Amino acid sequence: MKRVLVVFGTRPEAIKLAPVIHRLRDCGDAVALTVCSTGQHREMLDDTMRALALTADLDLRLMQAAQHPTDLLGRLMLALRPVLEDVRPDVILAQGDTTTVMASALAGFLAGVTVGHVEAGLRTRDKRSPFPEEINRRVAGVTADLHFTPTARARDALLGEGVPEENVYVTGNTVVDALQWIRRRVAENPPGDDLDLQGRRLVLVTAHRRESFGGPFRELCEALREIAERFEDVELVYPVHLNPNVQKPVREILGDCRRVRLIEPLPYDTFVTLLVRAYLVLTDSGGIQEEAPALGKPVLVLREKTERPEAVAAGVVRLVGTNRERIVAEASRLLSDASAYAAMAREVNVYGDGRAGERIVEVVTQGRMFTAPFEPSV
Ligand code: UD1
Ligand code: UDP
Repeated sequence: MKRVLVVFGTRPEAIKLAPVIHRLRDCGDAVALTVCSTGQHREMLDDTMRALALTADLDLRLMQAAQHPTDLLGRLMLALRPVLEDVRPDVILAQGDTTTVMASALAGFLAGVTVGHVEAGLRTRDKRSPFPEEINRRVAGVTADLHFTPTARARDALLGEGVPEENVYVTGNTVVDALQWIRRRVAENPPGDDLDLQGRRLVLVTAHRRESFGGPFRELCEALREIAERFEDVELVYPVHLNPNVQKPVREILGDCRRVRLIEPLPYDTFVTLLVRAYLVLTDSGGIQEEAPALGKPVLVLREKTERPEAVAAGVVRLVGTNRERIVAEASRLLSDASAYAAMAREVNVYGDGRAGERIVEVVTQGRMFTAPFEPSV
């Protein structure tokens, strides 16, 4: 029997680890599974877990209002050591590039446990963008023993850093498994999104990145305002991240804006339902850059750099930064030029095939990947 500890703390980690956790739970006696939420997020994580039918065996409840990553890291390290001592896992699994991931990988390494990193090998090569995620995932990279990369490009990045080839598995991104799972669930049990857009085109917006806080974030909000003012037949819907550094500028700049709807963060099933209804997506999110191409929705990425260039190369995602004129120009083009829009509104399968969870669990439980590595199809 393998003792496996899975740790997550934020909304995207729960979404992307759900397929792995569900599969590990199905392993019966072959796996003794402990699921630990660090509670880096609270409300946003609770809603997500409910939508994904996820439960945690341990909840460290670490979130504090307006937390600083340094303070959170301190709390995480102190809280994870006793968890590792109690559970004594053979393998600890963490996903992505949050503070929870850096702490879990480091604490696992220090406890002498095999560390598995899901969504390994993403890089911009700029340690300040995204901040602090680029460093979080590099720390996870140097401490991990098993590297589950979404794409061949991510594998090559790790090989270039000296990670032995036999420790790297190209699994695809588990977000595609999660998306397929939630779409089946939504089809059986629609979450009832009651947004009446009165025939307007839906532009779905999310933005929350720390490296944009301050001037760039305000500029990005100004751009959203201008788009809403320019196009009477669109409605911008923005589920606003609960970080106070996001809430304040968004409400100040967009609070009274016609055709901009600021709403609470949505549970995953409702959010995916809106994504399916969307005409265009404006986001700085990592996960949404992966989900929207799988649904054929064009994306403008409100960041200066992305570690997910595959969909950009496929021509369905554009990196537009946080400059107001650039965002307005690129969005206006897609909202008024049908052929430019059609060129980007294509479903591509560059991040996964829905079998990433299966591949990861094969490696964790049997020591090798029996399913062939993920291959993209554009
Ligand atoms: C974190 C991750 C980021 C990820 C994002 C996903 C780090 C450094 N950042 O950023 O990589 O893209 O999660 O959303 O790990 N808050 C609530 N309720 C919640 C969640 C957050 O009130 O359910 C507020 C709190 O005031 C909290 C603040 O948001 O202190 C920031 O949360 P934190 O997890 O530190 O950073 P995020 O910006 O959410
Ligand atoms: N998401 C959600 N509700 C929302 C906004 C996003 O469920 O209101 C989902 C989205 O589908 C994606 C994930 O949350 O899977 C992205 O999380 P976030 O943008 O917070 O983090 P990132 O991906 O940038 O790390």
